[in-house]
Amino acid sequence: MTKIAVFASGKGSNFAAIARAIKKGRLDAELALLVCDNPGAPVIQRAKRLKVKVALVKKENFSSREDFEKAVIRHLQENGVDLIVLAGFMRMLGAELLSNYQGRILNIHPALLPAFKGSEGIKDAFTYGAKITGVTVHFVDEKMDHGPIILQAAVKVEEKDTLESLETKIHKLEHKLYPEAIRLFIGGKLRIEGRRVRISIP
Ligand code: GRF
Repeated sequence: MTKIAVFASGKGSNFAAIARAIKKGRLDAELALLVCDNPGAPVIQRAKRLKVKVALVKKENFSSREDFEKAVIRHLQENGVDLIVLAGFMRMLGAELLSNYQGRILNIHPALLPAFKGSEGIKDAFTYGAKITGVTVHFVDEKMDHGPIILQAAVKVEEKDTLESLETKIHKLEHKLYPEAIRLFIGGKLRIEGRRVRISIP
């Protein structure tokens, strides 16, 4: 069974959605670990309630990103993690993690990449006046919000939408799309060919 580590720094609604999908038998996986870099993050309490192990690794306790990532990798190895799922992890990954888990790190972004990269994807699309935005799940590479795209889904920005109502729609879609992408990965259905991810449909 695939052992997943979710990396998160904040609220953890995607963490909870993945946990739900596993519990409902929609994902043949185990939530082996939560890696968190922020001691105040609500996701930690969620993990505790769901009895998921938590590795709290604070960057300030290490003199370099390399040492920080080596410590994270030790936690991943101790827990036999096969797949890393970033869900609101507010930190770029460096060479250590990327080389040790190449092709096994996913991220979710709340916009249709390559549009509206960065930490404010929903707000940026809304203030730009986009009529369509959405959600992207992609493999992670060394650049921010950049690796090969696995799945995307669109959301219409309606006349009556406010930033808050758009956020609600996007998050709802995220909670559906992320488990779906993870299921494809776990089932061995994804093949990376350059920038393109081929999805094999049975
Ligand atoms: C999500 O909108 C995700 O797309 C982005 O960070 C947010 C995390 O939300 N990368 P949550 O902590 O899962 O609720």
